[in-house]
Amino acid sequence: MRIRARMAISADGYVTTPSGWPSLAADPSFARDSHGIPEFLDGCEAALMGRTTFEPALTNEWWPWPNLEVFVLGSHRPAGTPDHVVTDPDPARLLDRLRAANRGGDVHLVGGPRTIETFRALGALDELHLLVLPLLIGGGMRLTPWLSVHTGLVLQRQRALPEGSVEIVYAVDEDARPASPALDENWLPASQRVR
Ligand SMILES: NC(=O)c1ccc[n+]([C@@H]2O[C@H](COP(=O)([O-])OP(=O)(O)OC[C@H]3O[C@@H](n4cnc5c(N)ncnc54)[C@H](OP(=O)(O)O)[C@@H]3O)[C@@H](O)[C@H]2O)c1
Repeated sequence: MRIRARMAISADGYVTTPSGWPSLAADPSFARDSHGIPEFLDGCEAALMGRTTFEPALTNEWWPWPNLEVFVLGSHRPAGTPDHVVTDPDPARLLDRLRAANRGGDVHLVGGPRTIETFRALGALDELHLLVLPLLIGGGMRLTPWLSVHTGLVLQRQRALPEGSVEIVYAVDEDARPASPALDENWLPASQRVR
C-alpha cells in the first residue's frame, strides 16, 4: 500500500481559490475524467482526507469517491456522513485502520495540506503529485507553510497533460530532506502548525 497525495496548484502557487475551493475547480477544463485523474486513481482502493476537505462532498451533486473506501481525519463525524465512511480523530489510529482494511491497493491522500503534513510527519506519505495548472489565482491557501519545508522530494517523472497542466511526481524520501539553513520554518505561527 502506497499513500499518494495529488495536489492541483496554480501557477502562482495556490492550492485553493481565495474562497477555499480546490484550485482545480477554477480550471474551466476540469471534469471527472480530466487532468489525468483516471490514471491516478487506477490502482487506488481508498481515499484519505481531512474533515475540511471531506465536508463539501456531503452536499455535492455527485459522490466524489464512488469506487473507493473513504477515511476521514477529524475531531467529529460530520452530520450526514454515509455509514461506510470511516472517521477518526487520531491520525496514527486512522492509519492503523487504513492498513488493516488494505487489500493491496494504493491510497489517494486527497488533502488538504494539513492532513498531508500529518501523515508525512508519521512517515506515511510515499508520493506527492503536483498538478501545476495554467492559471493565476492571486490568493488562497498554499501547500506551505502547512507542509514542512523540510520534506524530502525526489523527482520521479513529469508529463504535460492535454488540458495544459503539467504533472510532477515526487517520491517523498526523508533521506532527501533539504538541509539548507536558508529554509527556516520556525517563523510559522503556532496557530498554523499541525498538532
Ligand atoms: N488543490 C487540491 O488539489 C486540493 C485537494 C484537497 C483539498 N484542497 C483544499 O484544501 C483546503 C483544506 O485544507 P486544510 O489543510 O485546511 O484541511 P484538511 O487537511 O482537509 O482538514 C483539516 C482537518 O483535519 C483534521 N486534522 C488534520 N490534521 C490533524 C491532526 N494532526 N490531528 C487531528 N486532526 C487533524 C482536523 O479536523 P477537526 O477540525 O475536525 O479536528 C483539521 O481541522 C480546502 O480549501 C480544500 O479545497 C485542495
